[in-house]
Amino acid sequence: MAGKSKTLWFCKNCGAESAKWMGRCSSCGEWNSLIEEPVYKETHKNRFSSSAISSVRPQTLASVTIPKQDRTDTLNGELNRVLGGGIMQGSIVLLGGEPGIGKSTLALQTAMNLRDIKTLYVSGEESLFQIKNRAERVARPNENCWFYTETLLEDVIHQCQELKPDLIFIDSIQTLYSGQLEAPPGSISQIRECASQLLRYAKTTQTSVILIGHITKDGVLAGPKVLEHIVDVVLQFEGDHYHVYRVIRPLKNRFGPTSELGIFEMRGEGLREVTNPSELLINTHEDALSGIAIGATIDGIRPFLIECQSLVSTAAYGTPQRSCTGFDARRLNMLLAVLEKRASFKLASKDVFLNMAGGLKVEDPGIDLAVIAAIMSSNADLAIPRAYCFAGEIGLSGEVRPVQRVDQRIAEAQKAGFKKIFIAGNNLRGLDVSRFQIQIEGITKVEQLVRKLFG
Ligand code: TYD
Ligand code: MG
Repeated sequence: MAGKSKTLWFCKNCGAESAKWMGRCSSCGEWNSLIEEPVYKETHKNRFSSSAISSVRPQTLASVTIPKQDRTDTLNGELNRVLGGGIMQGSIVLLGGEPGIGKSTLALQTAMNLRDIKTLYVSGEESLFQIKNRAERVARPNENCWFYTETLLEDVIHQCQELKPDLIFIDSIQTLYSGQLEAPPGSISQIRECASQLLRYAKTTQTSVILIGHITKDGVLAGPKVLEHIVDVVLQFEGDHYHVYRVIRPLKNRFGPTSELGIFEMRGEGLREVTNPSELLINTHEDALSGIAIGATIDGIRPFLIECQSLVSTAAYGTPQRSCTGFDARRLNMLLAVLEKRASFKLASKDVFLNMAGGLKVEDPGIDLAVIAAIMSSNADLAIPRAYCFAGEIGLSGEVRPVQRVDQRIAEAQKAGFKKIFIAGNNLRGLDVSRFQIQIEGITKVEQLVRKLFG
């Protein structure tokens, strides 16, 4: 079969291959996910004999020496945080995100800021002129940072063998292609082949590799799940294009927790680390405004304070409008129903709009109390004092339920200069209140909150 091209069917979801089309993937069960792609030009035998692993022999663990410094500091606190304390030597990290979110910017900045190690930035998307243009804006010149614009994988690996960089950035994995396959760049078989060849190179030479990957419209890493199995760490870059905040979440990490969160701000001079998100997610209005409440929330293990903004107005037409950004619409409806029942809020005659500051998405139910406070504040057109903040989940009968990690939330609120925090009464149990200077008020029911805030 040498030289003759052949096609196979690949599942877009799990990457499983099949010799014929099927309506449903036999591996992951997804419907209508099989796509046809051309595969190998050469026989499998040639493919393996020509790979980079030829110098490696089986060995016993006794002969394996563990390198002393096993993590590389990326000199970027937020990136280190999501990597679990720097990038593990010889590991492959996949940085995924929608186009335009800032992946190339982050990679370029990181590559150029590292002065003590040799970095190589491989770009298949931008020309050297474009890169230089951007680099001049976002970083200082660095003689130890190399650039290469190439999309043929074998050339990239050859150059890596020559240059011997300590850290390689590939922008992006979807533009790379291996000459051994006939499939076009970006196809499942190419992505899988390129990633596994890079993996082999990384493991045999103890070089770290950061792969940039685009995300498809429906939010999955294009190329697809197969990549997630191959790499050691999967980082997802998220954010709203209309806002300056960007968040990196580890979806998988073989060397650290996946509950961390890295926060960045996109500026004219590139991405800036946000070490104290609370300060940025709260607007400093001169006067207190109605419809605003500050929630002490937590994402993974990172506490921060966020401003909830609400606008309640009389519905102009028959059906009242409900709209929210950064918050689950169904949860908003539930909270409104609770308010109607418990706080005589006239649901049917009001339009309700809700916004989380900074374009961040908040999934933590501990934000409920702040959401309710913001809605009630707008409804009554009475401002909540600027020094108050909230952390509590609301149950269907209007009870305020305890939240996890309440001490961290309180500490964060205190750090940000708040004078009083409302939490669930049950959260007070076992909590050493004397540890905090901030006033802590426990409440058990929504009605109670309304009375306390607006009399
Ligand atoms: P980019 O890193 O090219 O995104 P990706 O590689 O994920 O596709 O970022 C592009 C966006 O970032 C673009 O819309 C412009 C914006 N940007 C800034 O606001 N400031 C900057 O300093 C840079 C480099 C980009
Ligand atoms: Mg890019």
